[in-house]
Amino acid sequence: MENIFKCKTSPEVGGMGHSVKRKEDARFLHGKGKYVDDVKLPGMLSMVMVRSPYAYAKIININKEDALAIPGVLAVITGEDLAQYNLHWMPTLLSDTQMVLPTDTVMHQSQEVAAVIASDRYIAADGAAAVKIDYEPMKAIVDPWKALDEDAPLLRPDKEGQKDNQIYHWERGDRAKTEEAIKKADIVVKERIYLPRIHVASIETCGCVSSYDKDTGKLTVYLTTQAPHAIRTVVALVAGHVGLSEEKIRIISPDIGGGFGGKVPVFPAYVVAIAATFLIGKPVKWIEDRSENLVNGFARDYHMDCELAATKEGKIQAFKVKTLADHGYTDASANPSKFPTGMFSICTGSYDYDTAFAELDAVYTNKAPGGVAYRCSFRVTEAVHAIERMVDKLAHKIGKDPAQLRMENFIKKEQFPYKSPLGWSYDSGNYHATLNKALEMVGYDKILKEQAEKRKAGKLMGVGICTFTEVVGAGPSKDFDILGIAMFDSAEIRIHPTGKALARFGTKSQGQGHETTYAQILAEELGIPYNQIEIEEGDTDTAPYGLGTYASRSTPTAGAAAAIAARKLRDKGKKIAAYLLEVSEEDLEWEPGKYVVKGAPEKSKTIQEVAFASYTNFPEGMEPGMEATHYYDPPNLTFPNGAYICVVEIEKETGAIDVKRFIAVDDCGNIINPMIVEGQVHGGLTQGIAPAMYEAIQYDDEGNVLNGTFMDYLVPTAVESPHWETGHTITPSPHHPLGAKGVAESPTVGAPPAIANAIIDALSPLGVEHLDIPITPDKVWEAIQKHS
Ligand code: CDP
Repeated sequence: MENIFKCKTSPEVGGMGHSVKRKEDARFLHGKGKYVDDVKLPGMLSMVMVRSPYAYAKIININKEDALAIPGVLAVITGEDLAQYNLHWMPTLLSDTQMVLPTDTVMHQSQEVAAVIASDRYIAADGAAAVKIDYEPMKAIVDPWKALDEDAPLLRPDKEGQKDNQIYHWERGDRAKTEEAIKKADIVVKERIYLPRIHVASIETCGCVSSYDKDTGKLTVYLTTQAPHAIRTVVALVAGHVGLSEEKIRIISPDIGGGFGGKVPVFPAYVVAIAATFLIGKPVKWIEDRSENLVNGFARDYHMDCELAATKEGKIQAFKVKTLADHGYTDASANPSKFPTGMFSICTGSYDYDTAFAELDAVYTNKAPGGVAYRCSFRVTEAVHAIERMVDKLAHKIGKDPAQLRMENFIKKEQFPYKSPLGWSYDSGNYHATLNKALEMVGYDKILKEQAEKRKAGKLMGVGICTFTEVVGAGPSKDFDILGIAMFDSAEIRIHPTGKALARFGTKSQGQGHETTYAQILAEELGIPYNQIEIEEGDTDTAPYGLGTYASRSTPTAGAAAAIAARKLRDKGKKIAAYLLEVSEEDLEWEPGKYVVKGAPEKSKTIQEVAFASYTNFPEGMEPGMEATHYYDPPNLTFPNGAYICVVEIEKETGAIDVKRFIAVDDCGNIINPMIVEGQVHGGLTQGIAPAMYEAIQYDDEGNVLNGTFMDYLVPTAVESPHWETGHTITPSPHHPLGAKGVAESPTVGAPPAIANAIIDALSPLGVEHLDIPITPDKVWEAIQKHS
């Protein structure tokens, strides 16, 4: 990637803008990463879950005898066992309730019904197979629309006051004004758009090792979690009544093999493993296998009825979207408390218009719970897909070039900060520049000419654009909390006497390279070389409290905390330098890595000299040492944006889709490490092509998952991934101390509509106006047959 960011530090110091190699890669590439499954404790037992074959059934009887008769099986734990301790239910992140283990009814296929604890995993698996459960199957509700039928059975009679299968109704915006604008508009385009249920499918599945030490009363849990501190607090709240107090709980999140939002929730097996170590007194390990991972949890699953109104020239006037959200049997969406639909209200997009209205009904069905923010700031992917498909549809309808239509409707750079019709305050952006750069990179005019020629020759070629606005970096804490815990993040820095440093954070990397980029932020601020700064995250006994890493929040929150904590140390260092140089503080200025006497550059003290003095020779009355902590509560979110262009060709005879070009221009403000950003964009784009062309969880009428293995749940590999062409514009965030915005999720959000728009553009001469993702060759082939 070209580097358009101007570096202030030398490559040796490696501050912001340097593409230094990732420090953590030495251990990852040598196979020396330490994951949860690498944890082996003395006397450790293994746990395997027994899961329901039915989507909806009464449990008549659970017979443990045969399982317990197997040598090595120590315990079979059921919902009834947990009920004795009132641990059979737990709260979800959105304050719904979820079974840890059921006592009478199973609510989705593959739900955990019992746990078998044994001396090793193979014996535990034999034990799980030997647990005999009698079920009485019931008619499952699979279709979310049918869940709302008047005669639909009530799925959650356990919930007081619950009279139907609706979980909640949510709305935002001005309904009357929006409907009036739609009524009066020259042009209204409408579409029902479905974003299917998909899996995070990270390389490492979920797991934990729980260990309770009776002598110290301390519970240590090694956990595949993106948010260790929040989990510690939740465990204390849920299990406080059985004697687990927060200071006695240590959550350690070691190396994580991909999280993408899927490792935010508390899974029932975690709770069972904690209960088991508590009861048995030995460490208990649970590692989810791939098949379990592929039938549990989900992201997306939004059915969106969209209406976009415009003048006949294409000036957008209003947007309305009514959504049905299938949450499975409980609302376990990993969203901030006050945002049940996450940041879906960013759905008005990058365009300047007056009015919008969004509403959503969430329903229970007999499917796995989840609703995780899969590489997405809580439903931004859904929002961007809706508006970007609709803008393209409008362009096709009025016969205007989709790039031109976007240019004419973009929020202008002088309009920032921009108040969106649904209430967000976009911090900064230069959307025209971003799209212009993408058009230049693809050679738009030439591509359009080529398309016209191919069309004349009867070939199907499409060009698709997506110009998205993202919203990442939750807090501010006044608006954002998870189960009441305010969303902020933290950094703690210690500079050692020899000028090297250790810094700890409340976030948790899952492969994003935090050990490198946080060190680069500190190198930028302090002038200490990045490779002399150790970064630690993930251990609640040592790291400062934070809300973890998901939804691209690390740079906007903990990255800012790092900069501010470093600036506190620089202020202290200035006092020490003034003392050492026998000048006043006002006489000093900061140059990367040293304090210099103004007008006398030969007189200076390096940060290393100052650090040494802070332990050995500091002004009288000053607190010794060089340590600082900052808890950063952002004043606003950051709003990265991007312009993506996809070029496809489709083979008429087979429906095969060939992605010829994919251009991704991102604007994530100032860049810390261009190479890491490039890696984030490549990975995110691949996770964008996944739902666009391959992935969707499918169910039959009985609620059986039809594609629960990688043989039929198609995850794109390097072979399916096109050559990604990336570029950047830089519009710093005005409120972030480093001017940086998050980037990790942008490509996952922006790629699917660009691909869908390209494929539909290719098919548009036949009269195809819309296809839902994943757009597979068979779907394309059917559309070609239907329209030929
Ligand atoms: O929260 P998460 O780490 O997943 O997302 P992020 O804040 O977007 O950062 C992903 C990676 O890209 C981190 O290593 C960041 O430090 C890096 N990054 C960067 O180098 N420059 C930016 N402006 C944003 C992120």
